[in-house]
Amino acid sequence: KILILDFGSQYTQLIARAVREANVYCEIIPYHKPFEYEPGLKGIILSGSPFSVNDENAPDVDIQSMISRLPVLGVCYGAQLTAKKFGGRVEKSSKREYGRAILQILKDDRIFEGMSKQSQVWMSHADSVKEIPAGFELLADTQSIPIAAFRKNDDKEILYAVQFHPEVYHSIEGKKLIRNFLVEVCGCSQDWTPAHFISDTVAALQKQIGDRKVIMALSGGVDSTVAATLISKAIGDRLYGIFVDNGVLRKGEFEQVLKTYKDNLHLNVKGVDAKDRFYSELAGKTDPEAKRKVIGKLFIDVFQEEAKKVEGIELLGQGTIYPDVIESVSVHGPSVTIKSHHNVGGLPEQMHLELVEPLRYLFKDEVRKVGRELGIPDELIDRHPFPGPGLAIRILGEITEEKVKLLQEADHRYISGLKEHNLYKSVWQAGAILLPVKSVGVMGDERTYEYTVALRAVTSVDGMTADWAHLPYDFLAHISSDIINNVRGINRVVYDISSKPPATIEWE
Ligand code: XMP
Repeated sequence: KILILDFGSQYTQLIARAVREANVYCEIIPYHKPFEYEPGLKGIILSGSPFSVNDENAPDVDIQSMISRLPVLGVCYGAQLTAKKFGGRVEKSSKREYGRAILQILKDDRIFEGMSKQSQVWMSHADSVKEIPAGFELLADTQSIPIAAFRKNDDKEILYAVQFHPEVYHSIEGKKLIRNFLVEVCGCSQDWTPAHFISDTVAALQKQIGDRKVIMALSGGVDSTVAATLISKAIGDRLYGIFVDNGVLRKGEFEQVLKTYKDNLHLNVKGVDAKDRFYSELAGKTDPEAKRKVIGKLFIDVFQEEAKKVEGIELLGQGTIYPDVIESVSVHGPSVTIKSHHNVGGLPEQMHLELVEPLRYLFKDEVRKVGRELGIPDELIDRHPFPGPGLAIRILGEITEEKVKLLQEADHRYISGLKEHNLYKSVWQAGAILLPVKSVGVMGDERTYEYTVALRAVTSVDGMTADWAHLPYDFLAHISSDIINNVRGINRVVYDISSKPPATIEWE
């Protein structure tokens, strides 16, 4: 295992992902959090930071005590802190260096194994190391900075420092450098694989759960599906899955997903048809937040009623993933904030159940890899994100069962079309929105006065920012006539060309 000490850089999670991609397990902790030198710990990486090492309250750690026990790699701020603490000099650069640079390797070293003598790296720093400390040697430079990589000139205390960001995509051979640190320097064995994760996790779950029972809400989404499948592998039918039809799922989704859960994944899951309860509570509600509240609250009610029917439940399964639980170092001062947990419907703490969270240390792409290894069909693994309140926030204004049917049909044609035209995987999320607008049209000789549907498709990495997807005109033309010709009640289709920010992905 590798520890990554976070000094608040926006790239810290990318370091962790690069380490995991090399099949080595790692964890991120805030730089000031105490940790144990457990036997499996093989090395430490110091992240970048928005701070300057010369700031009065600059984050600090005892690097000397670390290197007396384990190899350390300092990245950007981590490198500057290294320079400063061992007696080198770090100063503000005359201009901020940002973007591509060509790294030139000046000295052969195992950290550069397999890398080209010159390669593109990504820089993002305001300070530079002007002088390396005594007892250190220079390893690489770039055209604009003479000190881009250096190491402690010592075989007993291993300390590498790089000014650039090897973890980002634009550092072309950066992943090799990280791999070299992990394997050549720290001696990690690259055995953090999906298969290994599954066998370890199943054993750990069996130990945690013993002969007790676990209840869990399933949503059809990737995280809850993978989590439930792992738990089921560990304890079989002592997992009680609950999948609620809230009436605002996609067309046919409830039946299809439930069938996959039962027939393919052999989960002990109960489908609960609560459509009518949701429709009657939603009646008359037009405000988006009011709709969200109704759905969230009713979901909890239904789930708790179902939970009561199973005797002796002590544990609650959840599909929480690593980005939800990493403690992040705030940019506005070295304080610690913990992101709130997202979970299916936000189940309340007063249920007093012990949590079972098998994906707590996985990134989303790793959840998908584990899911594939578990034999979960691609259909479920590659699914676009779908909001908890479902189509309720894609029907602007009041929700009725008729409007849900109309939107389900239009959405179904749109999503199936994306799949048939091989466009589904190239967008991050797509869906149709029913607008509360009627307009005039003409069909045959008849005048129509019907609803408008907006199509939305975005590209994104994490949903925080998003660009509208540049879908081919031919495809849009095809879908538009498909919907208008086949869905009675809709006579106009528009395409949303707004990016986030300033728009959001959902319309409500
Ligand atoms: P926005 O609309 O904020 O959406 O750009 C970003 C992502 O979050 C999803 N989303 C939700 N998910 N409950 C959810 O579980 C919600 O109330 C909710 N609102 C938005 C949205 O689908 C997109 O993936």
